[in-house]
Amino acid sequence: MLSARGLTKRFGGVVVAQDLDIDIAAGEVVALIGPNGAGKTTLFNMLTGFTRPDRGTISFAGRSIEGLASHKRARLGLARTWQRPRLFESLTLLDNLIIAEREYPGERLRSLLLRPAQTLQAEARAAVQARVLLERVGLAERADALATALSYGQQKLVGLARALMNDGRCILLDEPMAGVEGRTVEAMKTVIREEARAGKAICIVEHNIGFIRDICDRAVFMFNGRIVAVGAIEELLADKRLTALYFGAH
Ligand SMILES: Nc1ncnc2c1ncn2[C@@H]1O[C@H](COP(=O)(O)OP(=O)(O)OP(=O)(O)O)[C@@H](O)[C@H]1O
Ligand SMILES: [Mg+2]
Repeated sequence: MLSARGLTKRFGGVVVAQDLDIDIAAGEVVALIGPNGAGKTTLFNMLTGFTRPDRGTISFAGRSIEGLASHKRARLGLARTWQRPRLFESLTLLDNLIIAEREYPGERLRSLLLRPAQTLQAEARAAVQARVLLERVGLAERADALATALSYGQQKLVGLARALMNDGRCILLDEPMAGVEGRTVEAMKTVIREEARAGKAICIVEHNIGFIRDICDRAVFMFNGRIVAVGAIEELLADKRLTALYFGAH
């Protein structure tokens, strides 16, 4: 579903991503692990179009996307969440979800002028979908609350729901469990499992090893801007060389 070859990125003189190859197939859940600063978020940013790689190719569902803007990749069905929730604080949960579909400036005005009926219909559909997703993450009763009224973990759940709004075929989750506690833990796990069962291609950056064991099929290990191991979760976790890299760098 999503496949990248040779992704390389320098910031200033520093190479933060070196020749990265990654493949994520439909229906599988891949863990992207490695210590802080390894380049995991940078890889997500390159895949989703928020950072332009210096070199490398990316294909999504059989087409080349490395030149596409991030909102166009999202529209094709490549969704992501952020390490921090990044919600619109002055909007309700419902509106945070509804606008996830059209974050490109000026787009709503243009489509309202050109196709008013279709635009309003699409917005009504988005509102229905937003309510369904809030139900799935267990926040239906808070639909009209402001994003700031939620706990950090609940905000991460809304971030996940936002990513699911365009019903994408591939979802990249950047530390979905960080800061998530209590009842929100199970809600997060359940929704991610449901998405995997529905055949989505999923890649998850996460430091929570229990969660990775629970949810992921295989792992890609990054260190210092490079992919240094790919394999079964237990195999990687049992590799003393990798645990030394992981914990030595913390
Ligand atoms: N916009 C930027 N400009 C300069 N350096 C950057 C930029 N973005 C990331 N970096 C650097 O690239 C390296 C990789 O960062 P990245 O955020 O991808 O790591 P990570 O694996 O996601 O770490 P963490 O687990 O802490 O989130 C770090 O050294 C970081 O400081
Ligand atoms: Mg990161």
